[in-house]
Amino acid sequence: MGYKAVYDGWKSDPEAFWMQAAEAIDWDRAPTRALFERGDHLYDWFADARVNTCYNAADRHVHAGHGDRVAIIHDSPITGTKAKITFAELQSRTASLAGALRDKGVTKGDRVVIYMPMVPEALVAMLACARLGAIHSVVFGGFAASELAVRLDDAKPKAVIAGSCGLEPGRVVPYKPLLDGAIDEARHKPEFTVIFQREPETADLVEGRDFDWDEIQRDVIPADCVPVEGDHPAYILYTSGTTGAPKGVVRPTAGHLVALNWSMKNIYNVDPGDVFWAASDVGWVVGHSYICYGPLIHGNTTIVFEGKPVGTPDAGTFWRVISEHKVKSFFTAPTAFRAVKRDDPKGELLHKYDLSALGAIYLAGERADPDTIEWTQKMTGKPVYDHWWQTETGWTIAGNPAGIEALPVKLGSPTVAMPGYDVQILDEAGHPVAPGTLGAIAIKLPLPPGTLPTLWNAEDRFRKSYLTTFPGYYETGDAGMIDEDGYLYIMARTDDVINVAGHRLSTGGMEEVLAGHPDVAECAVIGVSDDLKGQMPVGFLCLNSGCDRDPQEICAEVVQRVRQKIGPVAAFKLACVVDRLPKTRSGKILRATMVSIADGKPYKQPATIDDPAILDEITEALKTIGYPRG
Ligand code: COA
Ligand code: AMP
Repeated sequence: MGYKAVYDGWKSDPEAFWMQAAEAIDWDRAPTRALFERGDHLYDWFADARVNTCYNAADRHVHAGHGDRVAIIHDSPITGTKAKITFAELQSRTASLAGALRDKGVTKGDRVVIYMPMVPEALVAMLACARLGAIHSVVFGGFAASELAVRLDDAKPKAVIAGSCGLEPGRVVPYKPLLDGAIDEARHKPEFTVIFQREPETADLVEGRDFDWDEIQRDVIPADCVPVEGDHPAYILYTSGTTGAPKGVVRPTAGHLVALNWSMKNIYNVDPGDVFWAASDVGWVVGHSYICYGPLIHGNTTIVFEGKPVGTPDAGTFWRVISEHKVKSFFTAPTAFRAVKRDDPKGELLHKYDLSALGAIYLAGERADPDTIEWTQKMTGKPVYDHWWQTETGWTIAGNPAGIEALPVKLGSPTVAMPGYDVQILDEAGHPVAPGTLGAIAIKLPLPPGTLPTLWNAEDRFRKSYLTTFPGYYETGDAGMIDEDGYLYIMARTDDVINVAGHRLSTGGMEEVLAGHPDVAECAVIGVSDDLKGQMPVGFLCLNSGCDRDPQEICAEVVQRVRQKIGPVAAFKLACVVDRLPKTRSGKILRATMVSIADGKPYKQPATIDDPAILDEITEALKTIGYPRG
């Protein structure tokens, strides 16, 4: 069956489609049906089932006789080490850590925050929580203590599992002081922490609160898998919204298992036993779905890579890992290839390696620019598939279903909607528009299995953020169009979320930090185009009247402030001082116009602008920090 037949088959009988996909999961109690309606456009999937995620990701492969198969390859060009963990080892390691957590009182439904670098223990920690039915929330290592504190206060975890440090090229990032700072800052205090000590920065432990990863597991009785209801939250993952308060995306257990397992063959075209590599980080959704859960549930070998596309040691790292570990499908963000291309434009390092095992390359996380796709295709000779999804969905909304049928690639399009997603382009009034017309991208409800049923402790925010603008639809926050062949094009965000090196960040969150500076009266942050990272944040500051300090000094201070409050991952390095911000007569800051000026693109002066002369001031201020580029 080709893509169209599969998609139409889903559309004509979604219940049968998902019940059939569910057969690939080992249930403690099989679901009697797929979709459960809570009413008022709220849905659950496989809610009457009982199942355990860790069982499906580890134990079942051992029981099926594949215990000796490699589950995880850790490859760290930063430390120069490599290690392999079989499914049997993964099962015993998760059972042991889960036993230790259980003995310290962690039970089903408790939250556990995980703050770890790219080591296999991060996956073991996630799976150990799943084994107990505890709900993990992984926090990306590039976030600062304050961001971690916000998540502690929202998730209210019983425990935190952390690494003592992360390793960035040429720099050790001590995680433990960040964790201590976050616990001090947060109102909610976890009962205990488990610290995975690693060279070169072992952490001081607080007596009675912090426990060593190895010590806590000594002589422990391994924990069995605890079956949970199908709609039990598997994890919470915080992502950027329009304000500084991140949204806690809830991932439901059963739908997550079914959808990810389905995606591994149908989208990524791998069979059990194949090696799959997502070069991302466990702190992001790509890391959750495709470093940890998807490949392991499906019985693939996954790679935990601690390094960067360039500089660890060079732009040949990706090719070395792909050839050495015989990667069949490779997934990363376009930014990574832009970095490789910049350092090795002729692919000289690539030609040193045998890429014959590689079937295809998948890109997501940000817009894949045609140049990058064409360069990657030309250098590798492999198909390059863009695909579009979000933290909220947890798996592909639109992609090229290579395991069903590889559709022709159209540059600039992530291809077509996956089964489960009825994607439509709507005008402002919520009416579907004609093919080729720009509009808001919305998905007709219900969303498929694995997608978010709600936000953690924030059902109202869930409704307002996603369900209210277009009744009966999920609002994606992206704008774009669908062409005559059903190919989707993602053009821009409709909110203040920007995408920096494939990392989703809130300009509103950065503005909150800037506004907290004592000399700043008003501010705006916009995302300007960047050749490497896709977008970069730029801040505009209006200072308090009477402030006679050096503007450069204040700019340097706000840059430091964002690094301290949000973290280095925000990549906030550019700010300038202006007298006023351009606004409409009703007081709305004209961010889109400012972006056009910074990008050197033609723009129309908005009819509602309060004082057009301000645009010249913005242009001059941008020149002082080197914009527009080139
Ligand atoms: N812990 C602590 N700090 C971290 C971190 C982590 N886990 N990850 C990143 N940082 C820091 C970096 O050290 C850097 O700090 P600096 O300002 O002191 O240099 C900052 O956060 C920005 O990091 P990064 O976005 O990685 O930028 P970079 O300039 O170091 O590297 C790329 C540029 C393109 C090589 C890099 O962004 C990359 O590999 N991108 C791939 C994108 C990706 O995997 N996205 C995931 C979604 S699929
Ligand atoms: P995240 O939740 O971090 O995965 O970010 C999701 C957002 O990243 C989407 O809403 C898009 O704005 C953007 N995005 C992800 N994948 C793509 C893609 N393939 N093309 C264009 N934008 C993308």
